[in-house]
This record gives sequence, structure tokens and C-alpha cells, in this order.
Amino acid sequence: MTPTEESKLIYLDNAATSWPKPDKVYEFMTDFYRGCGVNPGRSGFDKAIEAGNILEDLRLRLTRFFGGDQAAPQRLCFGYNATDALNLIIQGTLSEGDHVVTTNLEHNSVIRPINHLVRDGGVEATYVPFDEHGFVDPEEIKKATKPNTRLVIVNHGSNVLGTIQPLAEIGKICREAEVLFAADISQTAGVVPIDMAHMHIDIVAFTGHKSLLGATGIGGLYVRPGVELKPTRSGGTGVRSAYPYHLDEYPYRLEFGTPNMVGVASLWAAQEWIKEQGGIEPIYEHEMKLAQRLLDGFNQIDGVITYCCDDLENHLSTLTVNVDGLEAGDVGIMLDVDFEIATRTGLHCAPLVHRQIGTESRHGGVRFAIGAFNTEQHIDRAIEAMTEIAKRAREMRQPV
Ligand code: ALA
Repeated sequence: MTPTEESKLIYLDNAATSWPKPDKVYEFMTDFYRGCGVNPGRSGFDKAIEAGNILEDLRLRLTRFFGGDQAAPQRLCFGYNATDALNLIIQGTLSEGDHVVTTNLEHNSVIRPINHLVRDGGVEATYVPFDEHGFVDPEEIKKATKPNTRLVIVNHGSNVLGTIQPLAEIGKICREAEVLFAADISQTAGVVPIDMAHMHIDIVAFTGHKSLLGATGIGGLYVRPGVELKPTRSGGTGVRSAYPYHLDEYPYRLEFGTPNMVGVASLWAAQEWIKEQGGIEPIYEHEMKLAQRLLDGFNQIDGVITYCCDDLENHLSTLTVNVDGLEAGDVGIMLDVDFEIATRTGLHCAPLVHRQIGTESRHGGVRFAIGAFNTEQHIDRAIEAMTEIAKRAREMRQPV
């Protein structure tokens, strides 16, 4: 993999958003928007049809990519991002008196919508902890379900710990219990295979701007046939304009207003690029080779504390660490200012993870999130920087 452009900055914040994108993505976004940036599905002229075609082609591609029902690509609905989709899922499935099972690995995009329903909507929630290696035991999910459990919602890949959860086993439990199973695939889509049918997943929520390598502002959900969400929004669909209510049929049921067509173009081109690389496997292998190099480096540094990464089995290329004696934010500032390395520090919108691993008191951790365009040189520079920062921390602790 070669970076799009030479930059002194070493970007290791790919769990927040992947950067850079493949050149093909930038080029296609520009060309498409210049040549065909009209409103799809609203009008009958050629360009509107051309724009609609790319939207529908992406719907089908992503349906296949996530193992949805290829006969029902219209159930792949586009929105802004995973947070947007997760709100539709949580508000569209839970009602007063319902119980939801989720985990301590979740992002605020799950925690907050659930907490609002618990506080204001008569919903009950159980948060299942993860084990000392960062994995949720499917049996714990089973134990947490009750007769009024309506939904189980689980983060496939933790944005803090990088651990990948056993969705197929959890899905089997949910299907047997006749409970809806939704997966937040924000961090895994584009690097880890998702097969909704095989994993017994009823609904996935995805975002386009992470490992799917598209732009920000595009994401969505796939709802398998047979599962329905309560409508929680309404508006323009471009069809049946005289009908006074929002349409029930997909994709209109869960799409509202003009779609983000630049985002659609970005994802369409990124799917092409992923195909040209030979699929997601070589990308995952590249990232994990670098993650292992980084972890081996961290393990050699006196004072670097790692979390839930004894080995990198069932792991993403995301590692969160701390430096003994320093606040996470201070380490991030040193990495940025002194070494030109971009990481994300703090609680990463996942406060329950940090509470469980005990990092709240030092205001979180320092996250290194490797992407498709990182290189061995980037990793070596990060190890050198952390070696120097840990040395400074040791010197600060020494009595004068
Ligand atoms: N959810 C994104 C992150 O983990 C923004 O950084």
C-alpha cells in the first residue's frame, strides 16, 4: 500500500476516520459530482437516472458485502453515519416495557439513545461486561436476556480495545430466543468479514468513513426481510408525493430527504478499490502485521501499559495504551507537538470501556489506530516516540 501523498504527519487515528483515502476515491468523488451531481430518483432526465443507478448499484454491492439478502437490496438504507442508523434501530425497536441487552464495549451512539429511552421512555437496559481480554462471553448475553428482552445490540469491533466480538455465537443465541439482534459494525466493516445470514444478524449499522474508505457523512443500515422498525422520522422520498405520510416500503421507509451523493460516490469507488486489492483480507493482514510490530515495540518499553492485547487474535489494528505517570491527554500532545504523530486520546466516546479497564482516573487512554496506508516506518517512528515519552515520564518520577 502506498500513501496518497507524502506528509510529515504520521496519521494513526484511523478508528476515528480513515485517512488518506485511496486516490481513486478522491478522483471519482470529484468526477461524479462535477459530471452527475444531480438529485437521484427525483426526476426523469438522463443524469438523474445515472445518479440513481450508482445509488442502487451501491445498495446492491453493500447488501452483498454485509451478507444481506441479495433479493432485497432495497433494505440497505443510507443515512449519515452509524450514529444516525443506531438511533433509527434503537428508537425503532424499543417501546415502553421493553428490555434491551447491550455491552460495556458500546460507543455513545448506542449508550446515549438507550439511556434516553431508559430515562424517558420506560425501557430497561442491561450492560454486559467484557472479560479481562476484552471479549463478551455469549453466555453472559444469554443470561442477561429476559422474557421482555426485545433487542440485543453489540459492537462488533471495539473502538478502544480493538477486540472483535463473536457475533455468530451471539446471533445464534438471539435467534433461538427470538430476540432481535443488531450489530454496530462501524469499526469492522471493510476489514473483517460480515455475513448477516451466517451470523444471524437482523440489522447492521455501518458508517462509510472508516475502513469502508469513503467520505464522512455517509452510512446506514441493512434490515433483513421479516424485521420491521417503527418509523421515527418522516419527510421527502422523491416518489408518491401526494401521499400524506412517510412511505412504508424500503428503502424510503428509512431514508429521509436527498441523499449524500458525494458520499455515495466515495463508497462506490472505495468498493472498487477494495476489490482491486483482492478484497478485505490483504488489507486486514497488512494492518495486523503493523499492529503486531507496534505491540512488540510497546512491550519493550518500560512504562507503557497496554490493555486487552496479550495477543492479537480476533483483534483490529487498534491499540490503546497509557504511559505510567502521565495523563493520556499529555501523551497525545507530546506525540502531536514533538513527534507529529496523530492519535486520539481520552474516553473515545466509549466511557464504559474506560470505566471497566480502570482508565477513567487518568482521563482515558492513547489510541493508536492503524489504517490501510500506514507503513512500517510510521510504526517505527511511533515506537521511537513512545520510548522517548516513557523515558521523560520515568525521569519526572525520579527524586531530585
Ligand atoms: N467513533 C470514532 C472514534 O472512535 C469517532 O474515534
